[in-house]
Amino acid sequence: NCPSSLRKQLAKLFGESLKATFPGESDVLPMIDACVAKNGVKFADYQCNNAMSLWAKVKGKQTDFKNPRSVGEGIVKNLPPSEMVESCSVAGPGFVNIVLSKKWIAQSLQRMLTDGIDSWAPRLPVKRVLIDFSSPNIAKEMHVGHLRSTIIGDTLARMLEFCQADSLIRRNHIGDWGTQFGMLIAYLFEKYPNPEDVNESAIGDLQAFYKASKLKFDSDPDFKLNAQQSVVKLQRGDPKYRTAWQQICDISRTEFNKVYKRLGVHLEEMPESFYNPLIAPTLEKLEKLGLVEDSEGARVIFIEGVDIPIIAVKRDGGYNYSSTDLASIWYRLNVENIEWNIYVTDVGQWQHFDMLFKAYRRAGWLPKDENGYPKCTHVGFGLVLGDDGKRFRTRSSETVRLVDLLDEAKRRCKASLLERDNAKDWTEEEIEKTSEAIGYGAVKYADLKINRLTNYTFNFDQMLNDKGNTAVYLQYAHARICSIIRKSGKNIEELKRNGSLVLDHEDERTLALHLLQFTEVFVESCSNLLPNVLCEYLYNLAEIFTKKFYSNCQVVGSPEETSRLLLCESTLVVMRKCFYLLGIEPVYKL
Ligand code: ARG
Repeated sequence: NCPSSLRKQLAKLFGESLKATFPGESDVLPMIDACVAKNGVKFADYQCNNAMSLWAKVKGKQTDFKNPRSVGEGIVKNLPPSEMVESCSVAGPGFVNIVLSKKWIAQSLQRMLTDGIDSWAPRLPVKRVLIDFSSPNIAKEMHVGHLRSTIIGDTLARMLEFCQADSLIRRNHIGDWGTQFGMLIAYLFEKYPNPEDVNESAIGDLQAFYKASKLKFDSDPDFKLNAQQSVVKLQRGDPKYRTAWQQICDISRTEFNKVYKRLGVHLEEMPESFYNPLIAPTLEKLEKLGLVEDSEGARVIFIEGVDIPIIAVKRDGGYNYSSTDLASIWYRLNVENIEWNIYVTDVGQWQHFDMLFKAYRRAGWLPKDENGYPKCTHVGFGLVLGDDGKRFRTRSSETVRLVDLLDEAKRRCKASLLERDNAKDWTEEEIEKTSEAIGYGAVKYADLKINRLTNYTFNFDQMLNDKGNTAVYLQYAHARICSIIRKSGKNIEELKRNGSLVLDHEDERTLALHLLQFTEVFVESCSNLLPNVLCEYLYNLAEIFTKKFYSNCQVVGSPEETSRLLLCESTLVVMRKCFYLLGIEPVYKL
């Protein structure tokens, strides 16, 4: 439901015309599409494409129409008068070409400048949304896959927030439970018999700690036994073991939080351990519904069309990743009253979630129809690859530490800022802040701009290039517009009150129309949970501004200065909204 989408407004208008043209056909949905330029030329702004299919419906019946073109002409004739539409014409076999009124475009844009861009926000049909993202595992590495989940999840959260969800929960489902803790604790006690000696610097690199304990686990049978007994003690709640577990988790958390802080991402943690007491009661409910059965000593749920079942209880009576997720969905739907429950993980986990959702549908806890509410959605993403086309790793084939990666992005940006001619004019703080905004923004944008389902190649040189579709290029475009306004010496707030927008030059009109199309692109990006759609829009905006408008329309000192400054300001407002949604901090001077 979004009145600010141009397509929606046109659909309403053409819906009325279709009703008047075909009073007998009540169920015809208006088909409105934005026109795409061919060889740089666009014949119209939008098209209504109903004539051909309507003709197929009425052909042979008793009507006034002799061909699809005459249907198109009928649609144009019956269009109610509107300030939005300048003219309509029928092309080819019956396409209705729609040209919008430039006066209307200018007024709509000016209204946004006064009311703010939030007046363009669509509304979500649901109020309580939860996005489960990032969700790294304690002691195991927080790898680049988690970086993708963090970046994509945060952007989706920002997008759905913009759609006015009353409550949007950013959930960190941290992996803090499982058999690996027996091993870690046993190793900890061996290395530090005195618990007071345990601290962040003592354990140092948790990943190395995990590796060393795993090595011992695999090679030393006594240690293995000890580790297995430690799990039991931990799960029974032995205070000494709980404390050690807590210490290990806290050290991991400190590491995670460093990454979140740099990325400007906030998450609310509810770790796997939280659901542990809820697993048995959830399974009991599913047992009662007859979903759970015995299979070779394990308790499982079979899903139609899938060979392997969900293992709800392992043969040794223990729980696993799926058991926890069965309970977490139950909790979210019933205690937190979540209407839309979204999971952001690599595509490899698609089946895990697909099976869980199907089990829930079988239980009657989710509507049969996948589009009904409450609903659960898995948002998958591809792998992060290195230049060699293999999984992204360091040279010594370790997983890349995320903090190192962000450090490197910042370091490179700082180096190139310091090389600039105007480097002396910058304070140290400005350089720090700017290199962080550009560096971290570049890492995010490189990930977000491609369709999340495809694999993506991590490459610093590419993402930090100031030409092409990169965040650096976008930051330059943004900073340049800021400097145009600064140079004019005009007070924008005053212009917004007293000036008016006029779109006489073709490139002014093109830019303004693209700005007005923000909402419909955003809606498309949201409905498929695809941030790359928004990135493409933003990149096109920067291109239209730079290559068309700014190349052909003088701003400062021209007779059209006021109007053009307002157009610059509108561009900034929309650009910044896109930056915000993508989690990128804009730079005001470069
Ligand atoms: N910890 C998991 C991983 O690293 C992701 C968890 C996703 N959320 C969930 N509820 N299963 O792959």
